[in-house]
Amino acid sequence: METLIPTINRLQEVFLTVGADLIQLPQIVVVGSQSSGKSSVLESLVGRDFLPRGSGIVTRRPLVLQLVNVAPLQERLKTENGVKAEEWGTFLHCKGQTFTDFQEIRQEIVTETERTSGDNKGISAEPIHLKIFSPKVLNLTLVDLPGITKVPVGEQPEDIEAQVQEMIMSFISNPNCLILAVSPANSDLATSDALKLARDVDPDGRRTLLVVSKLDLMDAGTDALEVLLGRVIPVRLGIIGVVNRSQHDINTQKSLEDCLRDEQAFLQRHYPSIASRASSRYLAKTLSRLLMHHIRDCLPDLKTRVTVLSSQYQARLNSYGQPVEDQSATLLQIVTKFASDYCHTIEGTARYIQTSELCGGARICY
Ligand code: GDP
Ligand code: NA
Ligand code: MG
Repeated sequence: METLIPTINRLQEVFLTVGADLIQLPQIVVVGSQSSGKSSVLESLVGRDFLPRGSGIVTRRPLVLQLVNVAPLQERLKTENGVKAEEWGTFLHCKGQTFTDFQEIRQEIVTETERTSGDNKGISAEPIHLKIFSPKVLNLTLVDLPGITKVPVGEQPEDIEAQVQEMIMSFISNPNCLILAVSPANSDLATSDALKLARDVDPDGRRTLLVVSKLDLMDAGTDALEVLLGRVIPVRLGIIGVVNRSQHDINTQKSLEDCLRDEQAFLQRHYPSIASRASSRYLAKTLSRLLMHHIRDCLPDLKTRVTVLSSQYQARLNSYGQPVEDQSATLLQIVTKFASDYCHTIEGTARYIQTSELCGGARICY
């Protein structure tokens, strides 16, 4: 089942290459109010320190983050690309550049954010696309978004709340996305902006998972047990409590491994009855499972679309000559036909071949 995810990621890339917006693919999108811990949650899922975080508005553009597990491919990639690092990142806007230093990845996010959104708290709906290759990640596509905020500061427009909401909605209204609603444990769940937005687009709660952050920051004498057990607000897919890195942990450069260990110890001490169903690690596992279920549910529709596409191209293929069994000969025929056909440009040829390959490849999957 796990192999479905790279397959879908590949399909998405090919669809993008052919310029077709044919399938809406599952992504995991974090939503929540500003500084609820969205970027921190994503970072712990990746297991690396690389996202800009902090108090105030830090995330100011959507970040589409594709995690690629390279364990089986690693040796080959290392020798092919001369990449020595265990983990590395690439940005869509930095063609041909490989980032092996995660501090540089963070810096590039900041620089690219400032390029479109200025350096005074402005926002932009144009996403940054980042891929992280690592043997330690699950195959997931995650989207980090600016938090919900009410009062404009710096260069933010008067209607900042509406703009951010619209940006969030443009991602979470996609019925094929899983919503990771992040709410801090030290504020009332009933006032959660994250859950409110999620309910708007997912009233039945079929694709919303609640993450309760900042369990360590609750007032003395209170705890989140009732919330985590779903007795305050039930959430169908589940409620997972986490302790992310505090600002002090970030400032003192406490390692993520140490943080995960301390998180586990905290949960054992304060929430022993549910410690096995909480933590950042448990969240990562849960997400992976949900994503696989989700892809499985999307497959019939995807298959129909690919079949339709396939027969459209088969029809076109037939109009270009006799059917030939050998695939390479067929492609050669197409290329020859196209080359002699003034109606089609070189670009058209490339598109045609890629799409034909896609149909052939996709059929094998089912
Ligand atoms: P975002 O605005 O929702 O992306 O929130 P960030 O991830 O940038 O976090 C905002 C601030 O809250 C940072 O200083 C984090 O270190 C801190 N923070 C986030 N989650 C936790 C948590 O679970 N516990 C503690 N103590 N601090 C947290
Ligand atoms: Na923040
Ligand atoms: Mg953030």
